[in-house]
Amino acid sequence: MNFNLTEEHIMIRDAARDFAQTELLPGVIERDDKQHFPDSLVKKMADLGFMGIMVDPKYGGSGMDTISYVLIMEELSKIDASASVIVSVNNSLVCYGLETYGTEEQKEKYLTKLASGEFVGAFCLSEPEAGSDATSQKTTAIDKGDHYIINGTKNWITSGGRADVYIVIAQTDRDKGSHGINAFIVEKGTTGFHIGPKEDKLGIRGSDTHTLQFNDVKVPKKNRIGVNGSGFRFAMKTLSGGRIGIAAQALGIASGAFELARKYSKERKAFGTEICNHQAIAFKLADMATDIEAARHLVMKAAWDKDQGNNYDYSSAMAKLYASKVAMEHTVEAVQIHGGNGFVKEYHVERLMRDAKITQIYEGTSEIQKIVISRSLLRD
Ligand code: CAA
Repeated sequence: MNFNLTEEHIMIRDAARDFAQTELLPGVIERDDKQHFPDSLVKKMADLGFMGIMVDPKYGGSGMDTISYVLIMEELSKIDASASVIVSVNNSLVCYGLETYGTEEQKEKYLTKLASGEFVGAFCLSEPEAGSDATSQKTTAIDKGDHYIINGTKNWITSGGRADVYIVIAQTDRDKGSHGINAFIVEKGTTGFHIGPKEDKLGIRGSDTHTLQFNDVKVPKKNRIGVNGSGFRFAMKTLSGGRIGIAAQALGIASGAFELARKYSKERKAFGTEICNHQAIAFKLADMATDIEAARHLVMKAAWDKDQGNNYDYSSAMAKLYASKVAMEHTVEAVQIHGGNGFVKEYHVERLMRDAKITQIYEGTSEIQKIVISRSLLRD
């Protein structure tokens, strides 16, 4: 067993760290405040290969492994989780899905542009009445021979306002339950496809989240991904990888907050000494560091499972469950260590605390991760 990163992994991590410090840190408070993430920054991430990290270079990707992906996600998320969710959705939910299940024509037409960052992708599964219960899709796609007609509403769609390509999950045969669901590629600007207003969110406020409306949207049959009826399994498999990305995002948020708290505790004085010299603070730091390290091992294990070709449904759910819990609990502790300053935007920890919450909700709530883990444990 080898716990060391390779030289290449260290280089990739350092490049992401450098980018986060020089490009993401300036303006992060303003972007959170204004709920805006400029296209110019997406372009810079694309130039570094962050929009198609694991995609084969023949489709415009960077050809890196999942360990590299989580290293990049952690570094971006330490500074700006709004940036990392754009990267995560594009990589895990859109590029991975297309590369693994798409036709050669779909890969050439869409994946090459998504992986190079010329296009941004969105993944549309959640609905007003189908969040955790993802089989209860109300959005329908009716087979009309050479095309489908899609009708319905999708909620809380990351990059919903800025994407060029949307992967839309819809019910094609209600009687068949999860086997009557398909995934489709819908292009921005298709007639009948409307982007609703941006959500005003607690955290990851820079990333744009929208409700989408599909009114008689005509999609050619060649835009269906995979064989008829495979859409639910496509979504589940894709989300398993997505959960590795969000686990790494949670890890980044936690370690970013920890680093700020550690530094602050060595500068701030109270009762005649730096506050880190009080056990009340030092013990908090010890607990935070221990839990973050444990989360890192789970995240790395899930990434390693994926790279080895092992089943990663279980390890990705565990990594997300634990890392998001650590992110939530320890961003609260980071605010506490900062005292009154923790409540003020310029110290960054209040934003990280707000951002942490979504990691326990999207790509499956913590309760959903427990369903995935327990079913796996109890399967004979
Ligand atoms: N891989 C392959 N197949 C899978 C699978 C997987 N990981 N998980 C389930 N399946 C298959 C099952 O084997 C089953 O097939 P059979 O009928 O042939 O046996 C079929 O799919 C149905 O599975 P279940 O009976 O387990 O389905 P369920 O209704 O009980 O739901 C669930 C399971 C785990 C709760 C699932 O609904 C789920 O994960 N829900 C959460 C959805 C979610 O994560 N949403 C996130 C939205 S996307 C997002 O947040 C993106 C963003 O913006 C950042």
